[in-house]
Amino acid sequence: MTQTKPDSTALSRNKISFEPFTQSHIAEALELSRAVGWPHRAEDWALNLSVSEGVVALANGRVVGTALCSSFGAVATLNMIIVDAAMRGRGLGRALMERVIALGEARELRLVATADGLPLYEKLGFKAVGRILQHQGVANAAPPELPVTTGTLNDIAGLVRMDTAASGLSREGLLSAIVAEGDLLTAAGGFAVVRGFGRGKVIGPIVARDAATARALMAEASVRCAGRFLRVDLVGQAEDEGGGLAVYARQLGLASAGGGIAMHCCARPAEASDFNTYAFVSQALG
Ligand SMILES: CC(C)(COP(=O)(O)OP(=O)(O)OC[C@H]1O[C@@H](n2cnc3c(N)ncnc32)[C@H](O)[C@@H]1OP(=O)(O)O)[C@@H](O)C(=O)NCCC(=O)NCCS
Repeated sequence: MTQTKPDSTALSRNKISFEPFTQSHIAEALELSRAVGWPHRAEDWALNLSVSEGVVALANGRVVGTALCSSFGAVATLNMIIVDAAMRGRGLGRALMERVIALGEARELRLVATADGLPLYEKLGFKAVGRILQHQGVANAAPPELPVTTGTLNDIAGLVRMDTAASGLSREGLLSAIVAEGDLLTAAGGFAVVRGFGRGKVIGPIVARDAATARALMAEASVRCAGRFLRVDLVGQAEDEGGGLAVYARQLGLASAGGGIAMHCCARPAEASDFNTYAFVSQALG
């Protein structure tokens, strides 16, 4: 990893202090994420925090920066990295990153970068590995072309196996939490979860053996969410690829809404797997 610098004197001049992120910080963290146009609700912050350790930056007792490290076995995702607009450009983003990188210990680190964050992450040694395509809109119902049924928490061991094979992340706690709160969709070669997030519903993860199964899971989500706001964060599908999931998402009424750059640091070689992650749980949690 690239050598990091000590906190700049600007931070001590501005009397910035750092504390572990706790539930008591969620209300102010929510103000920061709203200010940057992110759709998270307090519940979405709480879910992220429930599987994370994190840090807040405080100025005069007010939260002016946030960062979380979500450890899932040998991999951690770094997320919710935000600095109050009035405090940017003084080294605070770097100082928060250094702290959550330390929380990740020896794990492989992953994140999804915005244009704002990209230069900082590159300086810290993260490398771009692909794109995340955010699609969202009012869902049009399209019947699935393969059988999809509703699963239950009893299926969790199988889901964890498929998810870990696809992503390298071990996240039984997170999957159990979102299945308990949302709808589990299962197909012969994969699964997906539809749950509340941000402005409406999100489908993610989508884990499947092949794109046809992933399409069927998306179609079932479109049926269940017809006429309502639905979002999906697709992994590395080229937008112009005929038959790709981004094209299919548009057919379901989910227009392109930007996305981010997937980045890894300290990456370990990935094991070969029959399963792929077609959509993230969220940009924060991979
Ligand atoms: C990304 C963000 C957290 C950075 O916070 P910040 O406090 O301004 O960051 P810093 O002041 O520590 O600057 C970070 C580094 O990036 C560099 N940098 C910033 N913009 C740059 C650019 N356009 N080109 C090159 N380098 C740039 C800075 O020079 C600095 O480098 P240094 O540490 O070597 O001096 C902040 O812009 C933010 O909250 N953006 C909105 C939310 C967001 O997009 N978060 C990222 C989610 S992945």
